[in-house]
Amino acid sequence: VNDNEAGQGSDPVAVSERMAAGGDAIAQLDDGRVLFVEGALPGEVVSVEITERHASWARARAVSVARPSPDRIQPPCPRHHEGCGGCPWQHVEADAQVGLKQEIVDAALRRAGHRGDVERLPARRIPAFGYRTTMRVAAASDGRLGLRRRHEHSVVPAAGCMVAHPRVEELIGRSRLPGASGAILRVGLSGGERLVVALGHVAAGWSVPEDVRVVGAGERGWVHESVGGLRWRVSGRSFFQSGPAGADALVDVVREAAADALGPGATLVDAFAGVGVLGGVLAASTGCRLVAIESHPEAVADAAVNLAPLDAQVVQDDVARWPPRLADAVVADPSRRGLGRRVAANLAGTGAGRLVLVGCDPAAFARDAVLLEAEGYRLRAVALVDLFPQTTHIEAVGRFDRVAR
Ligand SMILES: C[S@@+](CC[C@H](N)C(=O)[O-])C[C@H]1O[C@@H](n2cnc3c(N)ncnc32)[C@H](O)[C@@H]1O
Repeated sequence: VNDNEAGQGSDPVAVSERMAAGGDAIAQLDDGRVLFVEGALPGEVVSVEITERHASWARARAVSVARPSPDRIQPPCPRHHEGCGGCPWQHVEADAQVGLKQEIVDAALRRAGHRGDVERLPARRIPAFGYRTTMRVAAASDGRLGLRRRHEHSVVPAAGCMVAHPRVEELIGRSRLPGASGAILRVGLSGGERLVVALGHVAAGWSVPEDVRVVGAGERGWVHESVGGLRWRVSGRSFFQSGPAGADALVDVVREAAADALGPGATLVDAFAGVGVLGGVLAASTGCRLVAIESHPEAVADAAVNLAPLDAQVVQDDVARWPPRLADAVVADPSRRGLGRRVAANLAGTGAGRLVLVGCDPAAFARDAVLLEAEGYRLRAVALVDLFPQTTHIEAVGRFDRVAR
């Protein structure tokens, strides 16, 4: 790519090589700098507009495609064409999205310095559209709900959003929250409830469909969902996966990775437990004892209700400060930051023979894999779970065995 700074003549042409973790294609400028190209796919020749320049890298946007990838499709959602930034991979065919996400995880492990052989398990998929039962949306000045425009703060009203479950999509289209900065929308497909957690100050004149409960600051409300054959209470501000289909897919992969290390009399630690889904399903299916650690008060309250029928202890604590106790297996599902050195050491302090790491950021997942290996674990297998089709969000599950004391 010839970076024509003055912007004279035709747009520079980029030949993209592979995908970067953020979902842009990687190409190279003539001077050796890395170029991240939004909207391009590996193997494509595209004309680009350079949008950012730095000493060792630059960023560009594909403006036209001279040689398209066979994986390129026409984005199906009208909101995408109106500039909605919610689904940056709508131009990628659904199977190809999964392959690209797997390659990004492999590349992240290599870059973090991971050297061992790792089995790559088959990826798990959920329906490509209509899967989101929880969505954080923004509110426009007139109170209509939507998603941020690509690269901008303004809001694209998202009535008709194709990744939202139809009951969430209807909620987006029919709700007005003037004055609010946004909202968390949550539907319990199992319990039938619909919830709006309003963010910021809501002015007079707000409206939602009749059945919907609006939860303001200091208030609490919840929905019920079914995952892994069990019923879960999920409060408005508690973490929940993209929807029950995603949660079920993740539960299946985690259960396959951990169940053989558990049984009656064994102890499982579920670190970053949320409302208790991953550990709870494992405890119910293996008969093991469960210690669930979570810091968010609403999620802790949900987990206490959800796990009450099991042999389970819910601990409200920061996993980094939690004094480790002996366990047979650990499931850890941290936020995007990953585990980090201190939590990795803490989890290793349980002496667990099996550790299952769920990572929602490939670079953090790869860094954590290297940290856990330094703590005596070996990464045996990785599975991708595509919880957010059409987006660049990546969820990876790693199975680790303890190989040294
Ligand atoms: C990615 S979610 C996983 C939740 C759960 N495993 C699930 O599948 O629904 C991460 C959870 O970790 C909690 N969390 C974040 N940092 C924490 C910390 N330092 N200590 C304990 N919990 C934490 C968040 O509140 C959130 O519920």
